[in-house]
Amino acid sequence: MAFPYSEKVLEHFRHPRNVGKIEDADGKSTEGSPACGDMVAVYIKVDDEKKVIDDIKFESYGCASNIATGSIITEMAKGKTLGEAKKITWKEASEELGGLPPVKAHCSVLAVEGLRSAIRDYEERHGLIEERVPTTVEIITKRLRHVMNPLRGLDIVRTNLIKDIKFEDGVVTIVADLPPDHQFASVIKTDIAEKIEPLWDVHQVEVEFTG
Ligand code: FES
Repeated sequence: MAFPYSEKVLEHFRHPRNVGKIEDADGKSTEGSPACGDMVAVYIKVDDEKKVIDDIKFESYGCASNIATGSIITEMAKGKTLGEAKKITWKEASEELGGLPPVKAHCSVLAVEGLRSAIRDYEERHGLIEERVPTTVEIITKRLRHVMNPLRGLDIVRTNLIKDIKFEDGVVTIVADLPPDHQFASVIKTDIAEKIEPLWDVHQVEVEFTG
């Protein structure tokens, strides 16, 4: 049986470029694939004046195709403006790698979504998003799907950690089913705040633990 991966995919899988975390990132994201449940995190440093991606790193919790696509999109995005980087498609990333098996298309979609979300995170934090949709519980829930439950390796919504979400007068209150003194409580709280605070009409995020 022929091996389904190109030489370039294998090369990027074995020696991925730009792997890791940027501690003082200007924009970051954690994306999960609805198709397979795998996750990817993307971090960017941006030249505020030129709006150019100066540095980019990624961490993949996915398969070989996801690692290879994460690697290639970081190479493609570095040095590009945010506008140019946003236009990189999963098809271009896949072509750049010499093609991926059709069953692995979602792995490159995940990597590209990670890049776009990190750019959006930067734009939100810098007031660059023009359309201002009022925040709803659905929007908050969608964002919480990007917060990992370290106990299970999946997001906190899918693993039923979230018991209640309220949004009133700019204050978001989230109730999580975990003891307040649990070893992961503070990291989950920080991750939740990072995802929800950039919403333009949110002024405060409260996380209550009731395990
Ligand atoms: Fe999940 Fe590839 S199978 S990212």
